[in-house]
Amino acid sequence: MSDLMVDPASIGQQAHSFRPQESRTDMVRVGVIGYGYWGPNIVRNLQGQKNAQTVMVCDQNPAALARARKAHPSIETVSDPLDVLRSPDIDAVAVITPVWTHYELAKMALENGKHVFIEKPFTSTSAQAEELIELAARKRLTIMVDHTFLFTGAVRKIRELTESGALGDLYYYDSLRVNLGLFQHDVSVIWDLAPHDLSIMDHIIRAEPEAIVATGEKHLNGVEDVAFLTIYFPRNVIAHINVNWLSPVKIRTTLIGGQKKMVVWNDLVADEKVRVYDRGVQITSGEGIRDLLVSYRSGDMWAPQLEQLEALHVEMGYFAECIMNSKVPFNDGHAGLRVVRMLEAAEKSIRRKGELIRL
Ligand SMILES: NC(=O)c1ccc[n+]([C@@H]2O[C@H](COP(=O)([O-])OP(=O)(O)OC[C@H]3O[C@@H](n4cnc5c(N)ncnc54)[C@H](O)[C@@H]3O)[C@@H](O)[C@H]2O)c1
Repeated sequence: MSDLMVDPASIGQQAHSFRPQESRTDMVRVGVIGYGYWGPNIVRNLQGQKNAQTVMVCDQNPAALARARKAHPSIETVSDPLDVLRSPDIDAVAVITPVWTHYELAKMALENGKHVFIEKPFTSTSAQAEELIELAARKRLTIMVDHTFLFTGAVRKIRELTESGALGDLYYYDSLRVNLGLFQHDVSVIWDLAPHDLSIMDHIIRAEPEAIVATGEKHLNGVEDVAFLTIYFPRNVIAHINVNWLSPVKIRTTLIGGQKKMVVWNDLVADEKVRVYDRGVQITSGEGIRDLLVSYRSGDMWAPQLEQLEALHVEMGYFAECIMNSKVPFNDGHAGLRVVRMLEAAEKSIRRKGELIRL
């Protein structure tokens, strides 16, 4: 069993009243709907799993199906999602289509008794997410939302550092996630890129956010292509996320400041992606305001060893493991809903030119 197969009880954020239904087989048979940009990665990472396999790929675009047949000649391909959703040979459906289609496809999958692996962001609205969570609970089925970054060696290490108390009390999470494109037609840069940071924050800060302030602008095709989000958490923890499709260079850098240690995570470098700095500031006050004593700590930096496994491979194995062992995944529908609620609040704040939206 992989380290990532975390016992949900140890995650501490779940509040579920259900357990997924018992699995009937030792192999989870998955139908994948959507073989555009991301779908091929899902199919590739399902192949080679010992407890899961893709048995059908569905896409309404014939060119996408031709690519699927070329890459995986033994997998059946269909153009109608109902062929997947109603197939008695399928235990679980992976929904790898644009976000506006997620709710309908996932709902039909659950109604047909299938477990659901679904792309981020989970749904277009929190009401849709709540309905799917309730439906899955009633049918005792699993929902897993693809918050891929939670399965990377970097995020697993950062979470280990926060969990063990190595960073001390958290001060901030500050992320720069910018590049040129890929422009989406149906969602803004917030719904496209911010789910990564929001799910990572949710996983490592592990507190309910209190409020969001967001600003952003549309320049080219009617959706925000540049946005800045500030999220307030209890105990003075603050997060800032800068997402931008109009950056001349690609940057994926996150700073996480703690009272004892600080982390710099540069996801674009091959080595030393995560660096931990023993740096900080201590302030002791004397009698009056003039007696403030500021001392700076500037100790060692080290780069911890990170797991090298492909995140999606680990995640797909975890999906099958959860279904077969009736475990509630930590990236379940509730985790997806928490992210969608933050996205909705950010969008509302942008419409009101940066008004504080309480969650
Ligand atoms: N986890 C990640 O890191 C990550 C990365 C990229 C994309 N995504 C997510 O994956 C999803 C898909 O994104 P993409 O970039 O692959 O989009 P895409 O447009 O490249 O591909 C979507 C595919 O779904 C097909 N499709 C759409 N509706 C369909 C339907 N009803 N039935 C059958 N086929 C249908 C389209 O023909 C297309 O081939 C989005 O939700 C996106 O946010 C996640």
